[in-house]
Amino acid sequence: MDEPKRIGVLTSGGDCAGLNAALRAVVLRAAGHYGWHVIGIRNGTAGLLQRPVEADILQLEPGLFDGTLLRRGGTILGTTNKGNPFDYPLPDGSRVDRSDEVIEGYRRLKLDALIGIGGDGSQAILRRLAQQGGIDLVTIPKTIDNDLGHTELSVGYATAVKVATDALDQLQPTAASHSRVMVLEVMGRDAGHIAINAGIAGGADAILIPEIPYSLAGVASKIVALKEGGRNFSLVVVAEAVKTEGGEAVKQMQGSGVLTYGGIGHYLAARIAEETGSETRVTVLGHLQRGGMPTDRDRLMASIFGVRAVDLIAEGRFDRMVAWSGRTVVDIPISEAIAGYKAVDLDGPLVHTARGLGIYLGEFPS
Ligand code: F6P
Repeated sequence: MDEPKRIGVLTSGGDCAGLNAALRAVVLRAAGHYGWHVIGIRNGTAGLLQRPVEADILQLEPGLFDGTLLRRGGTILGTTNKGNPFDYPLPDGSRVDRSDEVIEGYRRLKLDALIGIGGDGSQAILRRLAQQGGIDLVTIPKTIDNDLGHTELSVGYATAVKVATDALDQLQPTAASHSRVMVLEVMGRDAGHIAINAGIAGGADAILIPEIPYSLAGVASKIVALKEGGRNFSLVVVAEAVKTEGGEAVKQMQGSGVLTYGGIGHYLAARIAEETGSETRVTVLGHLQRGGMPTDRDRLMASIFGVRAVDLIAEGRFDRMVAWSGRTVVDIPISEAIAGYKAVDLDGPLVHTARGLGIYLGEFPS
């Protein structure tokens, strides 16, 4: 009889809701069904840089997932969206290639295969490591931004949309009580998926996404028209990567020297106040979109992806990402997934629906 396999699993990139549910599915399938050992690697590839590497791992047993983990946000393994091993930052500011150390750490754990749960950036790094080190890799898509190609859904996205929709549900009554324009800034990096989905579901009057140019005059005229029609409030959703009217991205400098999106909501609210004379307020949802309890949809996607990823290993099919397409689970080459960046489709049903509902979505050629 064959020895039971030893597989590693790690979460990489920004966290999101549903990661623990994905880990649970991997462990229940691998250990529960196939009788394999599952080794949790902490903090993405950083865990493979620890020495001795065995001291920093987590043996993942099915019993660990009996309780609350299916429902809990975050990731019990920890994660990082910094520390690319090919361009690893040292404290003195210099950068080195530590990829061989990561591969050596993987080898020391005597693993037969690796499941990486991550977005496009993480998957690109993991694939490069896999090619360099001969690692049998399977990936699970996760990103609240939902910008990974060839999968209709990624783990974390549904919860982010739900949080943003709930925010609009809670902003509407207070907006109406005070006759205000409420601006809600949501995440999504360079894609407007969260903004347009939550905006439609939450009854927004204007939705600004990076894919569609807008004008302040256009936003203002929508708000003024609503006022003139007797409406005493407006709801505006803006995706974090939307630029100022002058074309500048609004970003914040972090301690690490990295620039992250944030602040377009405040810019917009100030300009709307000037243009319309309305009282405006801003809510920046930020990491609330990532840390909460996963929705039913995210738990389902995490479970479906986790089980299928383990099955791919059992079938000996590697360098593939599990994906959701046409109401079923499929798998595609990782290279295709990371090459196929997915922005909001300007000819798709959401843009058509938003415009059909009379939502201001930006300036379209007439
Ligand atoms: O990619 C996920 C995401 O949440 C983006 O929507 C956002 O721009 C970014 O990560 C925030 O990253 P950080 O956790 O480093 O602030």
